[in-house]
Amino acid sequence: MATFVDQHLAWELTSTVLHDSKFQELTTALRDYVESETPLYFAQRLTNHYNNSEGEGPEIYLKRGDLNHGGAHKINNAIAQAMIAKWMGRKSIVAATGAGQHGVATAAACTNLSLDCTIFMGATDMEKWTSNVLLMKHPGAEVEAVDGTFKVASSEAIKAWVGNLETKYYLAGMTAMEKWGGRPDILVACIGSGSNALGLFHEFIKDEDVSLIRVEAAGFGLDSWAEFHTTTDEAAVVAYIRLCHFEGIFPALEASHALAFLEKLCPTLPNGTKVVVNISGRGDKDAAIVFQYQLDRLSD
Ligand SMILES: Cc1ncc(COP(=O)(O)O)c(C=O)c1O
Repeated sequence: MATFVDQHLAWELTSTVLHDSKFQELTTALRDYVESETPLYFAQRLTNHYNNSEGEGPEIYLKRGDLNHGGAHKINNAIAQAMIAKWMGRKSIVAATGAGQHGVATAAACTNLSLDCTIFMGATDMEKWTSNVLLMKHPGAEVEAVDGTFKVASSEAIKAWVGNLETKYYLAGMTAMEKWGGRPDILVACIGSGSNALGLFHEFIKDEDVSLIRVEAAGFGLDSWAEFHTTTDEAAVVAYIRLCHFEGIFPALEASHALAFLEKLCPTLPNGTKVVVNISGRGDKDAAIVFQYQLDRLSD
């Protein structure tokens, strides 16, 4: 039990320790391995797309989490927690993953810190996102297939951890630390566990002049500290294709749910409103799914 409490405290401390000089190792890893200072990109063509007939509309900025190592925001959390696990004397990490992005980040972080790594993943998810399975295996992680989806994978991972509390560490999906250099009007992020939304929102949670909008991807809702909307998978695929066409950026389908919400949001906004959409990850893993969707549409 004490070990569980230790680990829980470690999770709680993750965000506060980042600035302590004692954690220079982490600061260096975030700078040189993760590239955590992801840029804010002005999406000129997407902005033009949402202009009204008078050429007015909101300005759309993209927070480029897709440029993080491994193609998503997940590595920020994974490297920090893996380092804490190592400081706690743990030798191996267990984690669960859905579409595989958290698994890829965890596998990379473990290899970087010479920790053993086991990732639990649903068998159907493994078939769907094979490229991520390979990206977990290539750095040396064991990928354990479970009969079910993420829910089953996470309970199996927790079981494996609880059976070996002294040596193993359960690396949960959590918040990413990201930086904003100016003041936006509206922040939009997709929601799974909440980590990419928190990474983007945390500096503005107490700022009543900044609207925080979370759009459900496939996960579950959180408490009500932000406006909450849903988008269909189909609208997300269309938003993926739109961003590829306008900006040459291929977003993860999760982030595409947030992008899809711009269709409803933009026509309601005054000229010049600054909107930031979190591009939580890259769409490599989803490219084949989108391609299949396009083929299906053609044959309809
Ligand atoms: C690229 C990407 N974006 C967003 C999410 C949603 O999760 P979270 O709310 O934890 O950021 C995931 C989850 O796996 C993801 O892989």
